[in-house]
Amino acid sequence: MVGVATDPGTFSSGVSARRVIPNGLDGAEHAAYRAVVDRYLTDERVSRQVGPCRTLAAAIVDTLPRGTSVEILASVGIPFAVRSQSSWLGWPSALEAVLVAWIRDNQVATRSGDRAQTAEVAQRFDQLILELLEPRRGRPPTDVTGELMNDTVEGRPLTDAEIVSILRNWTAGDLGSLATSVGVIVHFLATHPDLQQELRTRAGAGEHEALEAAIEEILRIDDPFVSNRRVATCPARLGDGAIETGDQVLLDWTAANRDAAVFGDPDRYAPEENAAANLVFGIGAHRCPGRALTLMELRVITEELLGRTDLIALDPDRPGIRETPPVGGWATVPVVLS
Ligand code: HEM
Repeated sequence: MVGVATDPGTFSSGVSARRVIPNGLDGAEHAAYRAVVDRYLTDERVSRQVGPCRTLAAAIVDTLPRGTSVEILASVGIPFAVRSQSSWLGWPSALEAVLVAWIRDNQVATRSGDRAQTAEVAQRFDQLILELLEPRRGRPPTDVTGELMNDTVEGRPLTDAEIVSILRNWTAGDLGSLATSVGVIVHFLATHPDLQQELRTRAGAGEHEALEAAIEEILRIDDPFVSNRRVATCPARLGDGAIETGDQVLLDWTAANRDAAVFGDPDRYAPEENAAANLVFGIGAHRCPGRALTLMELRVITEELLGRTDLIALDPDRPGIRETPPVGGWATVPVVLS
């Protein structure tokens, strides 16, 4: 699988009829747009978001009831994903209800496998973004969305269609991934109380790197970002199988992250040992440019959850429900905070 992801010449990302920037591009064209995307996701940019992210994470955790059942996806994962991405992009909080409804509709459409339904939901999102561009047009940028509207690729301004495509990829799928990641992390901590206590202590000591390494390892064990596709540009061999030009190949990140030949027992939590082979954020030219932002956001919400509780336990009366493939992770994670 790593061989496919790191050989974009043979295995193209151009799997969709739509032009998807930068995910669906290859070679020099991909590199040009990827350079634009990377400008917004540098460590310096991410560090500017820590403060706003902490404020909204703390506010979410403060409103959670103690001693009674709380469903983590609905009460923490989804609002935190929407608010932190909106804060980064400069989108109004009034949009929250629309974005929350959109995440749900998108998951339903993805699960249904119905192309018409998926296209309709995607179209609705594009319209939403276009409406966000209007008030920013012709004005000096005051947020990431405005900056992107004034940005250039290969010396010319980005078109509206390109801006919408880039913003769609920063939000559309990633809002869902962020939300489900919160569910996976909280479920893991609730079922591993010793680790939970260790990380609560480390969070209190400001051990940011250790917290992010723990999060990346928890996501490896139960990776909610399931897969991506490639299409063969020429005949190739994969293991014992022959691939013909035009064949689609699935990069199954969840399965690769649990490959016993690489990790031994895939359920063994070993952040340091497994870091080098961890594929949660992909590998090769398309590896996730949002990794640092994502890990920071997930760390901050985890720190606030651990720092403002003594214990997070699964609700004994309401078992969590797994998501339905192709969506990964948990659909619901009911817990009791004390
Ligand atoms: C838990 C959250 C996330 C996970 C697990 C994740 C994982 C991944 C993976 C595995 C890829 C590689 C795709 C491929 O090889 O085809 C990828 C690509 C990408 N991710 Fe993420 N991602 C997450 C969140 C984010 C966020 C928050 C952003 C934006 C702020 C983002 C932006 C992107 C973009 C633009 C690409 C395409 C890069 C390219 O084609 O060069 N991701 N992500």
